[in-house]
Amino acid sequence: MVENLVLVIGKGGVGKTTVSILLSLILSSIDNTLLCSLDPAKHLIKYLEIGEAMKYFKIQENLTAYQLDVNVALKTALDRYVELINELLPSLSVLNIDSVANTIKYSPGFEEEVFMREFQKILNQYEYHYAVIDTPPTGTTLRTLIIPKLYKLWIDKLVEVRERVLSLRYSIARTLGREFKIKDPVLDRLYEMRETYNFLWERMKDINTSFVLVTNPEVMPLLEIIDVIKFLKTELGVEPALLVMNKYVDSPEVVEVMEEFNRLPYEKVVIPKVERPPTRLSDMVELVKLINSEGILKALKQRR
Ligand SMILES: Nc1ncnc2c1ncn2[C@@H]1O[C@H](COP(=O)(O)OP(=O)(O)OP(=O)(O)O)[C@@H](O)[C@H]1O
Ligand SMILES: [Mg+2]
Repeated sequence: MVENLVLVIGKGGVGKTTVSILLSLILSSIDNTLLCSLDPAKHLIKYLEIGEAMKYFKIQENLTAYQLDVNVALKTALDRYVELINELLPSLSVLNIDSVANTIKYSPGFEEEVFMREFQKILNQYEYHYAVIDTPPTGTTLRTLIIPKLYKLWIDKLVEVRERVLSLRYSIARTLGREFKIKDPVLDRLYEMRETYNFLWERMKDINTSFVLVTNPEVMPLLEIIDVIKFLKTELGVEPALLVMNKYVDSPEVVEVMEEFNRLPYEKVVIPKVERPPTRLSDMVELVKLINSEGILKALKQRR
């Protein structure tokens, strides 16, 4: 099991992928680290010059990188659902299975559920102490984080309904003097799902999950992280571990935004805007030298 999970969140283009790489470089100096990008744009492949998505690449000592291909993950999940429907609810196969698949594919929440499964998969990688996740666009990420809570509610209701159905079936079978199979694959699956989502919900809120929010010295990205802070507080009951001001330039235009940023009562780190945008691992290694790694490690509540 991954011990420390770090989720990097921020508006498009602020430098989430870059910051995720920087954090992974810093954490990998302490222990085995997995850097995982769920960003549909797949920029990690370009920055780290790794060959392709959906494969693990050892970048250097203690650091492995993985780029998800969102479309492949969506297709795999869809196939699994169709299989599950065939297996658990064979009566549904009288419906056109393609139309069932389409309904799932376009259902709200399907993409988020696939991302949540990725979180789960990452957490189950026992050989890494740290996992840094470069997240998809903020809206999708926040909806993903809320999935376990939502599903817990639904599944509790579904369990109730299924238990009632089974108890009715049992009574009818007894009245008719027929045998009744106690074991129910649907109910078993619901119990299993309940356990998974309970675990994920607790794990998202636990002390070993750190939220790192990235902004630039501009109004819109800053407003976005303020919104994320509100969401984390109200929905998950957690606070961000670290705020990153990336692409900082010392100029009169940024004074107001910086004042606002500095008022936020959390650990902060400032990363200067470098002249040549970092695009390769060697650029990232240089950039790490310009930032306060000790402060970052402290903020990420790392366990030595
Ligand atoms: N500190 C920095 N100084 C200068 N350029 C930077 C810095 N950080 C990131 N950049 C550049 O900004 C651009 C966006 O960075 P990055 O791809 O990390 O952002 P992102 O938030 O992951 O974007 P997306 O939303 O597209 O996934 C890149 O060209 C990157 O090289
Ligand atoms: Mg990115």
